[in-house]
Amino acid sequence: MLVFAKIKSVQDKLNSLKKGITVGFVPTMGALHKGHLSLIEKAKRENDLVIASIFVNPTQFDKNEDLVNYPKTIDQDLTFLKSIFCDIVFTPTAEEIYENNITSQPFLFDGLEFEMEGKFRTGHFDGVGTIVKRLFEVVKPHSAYFGEKDFQQLQIIRKMVEKHHLPVKIVGCPIYREEDGLAMSSRNTRLSPEHRAAAPFIYKTLKEVKIKFGTKSAAEVCEWVNKKFENHSLLKLEYFEIADENNLKSISIKNAQSKYRAFIAVFAEKIRLIDNISL
Ligand code: PAF
Repeated sequence: MLVFAKIKSVQDKLNSLKKGITVGFVPTMGALHKGHLSLIEKAKRENDLVIASIFVNPTQFDKNEDLVNYPKTIDQDLTFLKSIFCDIVFTPTAEEIYENNITSQPFLFDGLEFEMEGKFRTGHFDGVGTIVKRLFEVVKPHSAYFGEKDFQQLQIIRKMVEKHHLPVKIVGCPIYREEDGLAMSSRNTRLSPEHRAAAPFIYKTLKEVKIKFGTKSAAEVCEWVNKKFENHSLLKLEYFEIADENNLKSISIKNAQSKYRAFIAVFAEKIRLIDNISL
């Protein structure tokens, strides 16, 4: 496995490859877990060469505290990537990526950026758009892999690719869960034992939502979820929405042609957990 921190080195290597080789790309912020592994494995099955990046992108954090506390486990991550035969890892510094200007560029994602996460994390999606576009420019992958846990992010990246005519196929990958149902996330390691034990309640609720949505209206299901969390002593609901998968707008009336998803964000003390389920 080759590890490069410099843009020029990674590009020289990629340029030296035989013509016609397909490159799969898995951008990450490190603190890797089995969910990332599933992205890399899919990328390996579908491409001749897989490159992962590890970069904790400062411009997508709306709270500096979150950036400072984001788990950084580079040695462990590299061991992990080597064990699953990742071909190349790109580990740039912020200076390498942003030069002297660590700011994000403004994007228009046709309104996707104003829904759900966008209401609570100012500037987050501009930061994501900026870094993903920059990484695509550096790596020039044929395909790039993103988890459905950040479903809004996935749709926003698809929109960016479409609007900017970027020559890359975006592949969404199913949410990877712990045995008790908690969606895998780098943030899970920061949960106290008590909050970790409580957290599977989130997915349990989503599974019940899926059943209820068969017979009840979106408004009734939302009210039911809000009530369930009202009395929870450890988990605080930030939002729960049932939205159209394509435009991410929250719905009031169901229509047979549309695909819907339930989205949730919950605080377990200071740790923010998100999850979603296709309905
Ligand atoms: O999902 C993530 O880990 C990050 O948002 C991403 C896509 C690597 C951009 O920094």
